Amino acid sequence: MKQKMVNISANTVVRNTKKSDFMKLGNILIIDGSSRKNGFTKKQLEFLKENVDCENITVYEAYKNKFEFCDGCNFCEANEKCKFSDLDEFFERFENADLIVFASPIYNGSFSSPLKALIDRFQFYYTYFYKHNKTQKITKRRMGVLLTSSGRVGEKWLSIMEEQLKFAFSILNIEFIGSALCNFTDTTPDIEKVEKEIKNILERIEQL
Ligand SMILES: Cc1cc2nc3c(=O)[nH]c(=O)nc-3n(C[C@H](O)[C@H](O)[C@H](O)COP(=O)(O)O)c2cc1C
Repeated sequence: MKQKMVNISANTVVRNTKKSDFMKLGNILIIDGSSRKNGFTKKQLEFLKENVDCENITVYEAYKNKFEFCDGCNFCEANEKCKFSDLDEFFERFENADLIVFASPIYNGSFSSPLKALIDRFQFYYTYFYKHNKTQKITKRRMGVLLTSSGRVGEKWLSIMEEQLKFAFSILNIEFIGSALCNFTDTTPDIEKVEKEIKNILERIEQL
């Protein structure tokens, strides 16, 4: 089905979101940027999995899957794909998921290293976007959420991470639904707060 396009600014072409695009959560891709088995990011993912109505959930563990780093070679500029093929299967799932969950501990005010490295590997989507008059390479509109954990107070870092993701999402054809943050994991983790935030996100998804 051909999607309706809408112009939102001078020469930016984005694909329009229709209610029906999000009616069914057929499959979810979780991008897990945490390494601690019993960490608070994993706890949030467990909570989300228990509470979401979806049978097909894929978890991509960024720490376990070794992949190449983007080295800025510009191969993608001319070839519209990355010179590395190690993430081809990941990208297929990424393009076809209905909901993508980015989960990361807050490390030095930002994403954990493998998650940042993975976001850099989206570079071929960005070069396509600018080469084709700001048209998104991915035709399917998906939803995206961000789950984070911080040792101390993390709101400031969360807002920076949100900004980074929202920019990427605008090129990757993802609608930002919301974020959750488990604060003070070093001392008194606020589990109740973060579970409420995850429930709110899931409710928002249901209402779309
Ligand atoms: C390398 C590193 C950097 C960190 N940087 C921050 C930080 O900038 N701010 C903060 O509040 N906590 C920081 N922390 C603490 C983690 O955010 C905290 O332990 C969090 O619970 C980790 O997520 P996890 O429980 O899912 O492993 C850092 C921890 C590590 C190991």
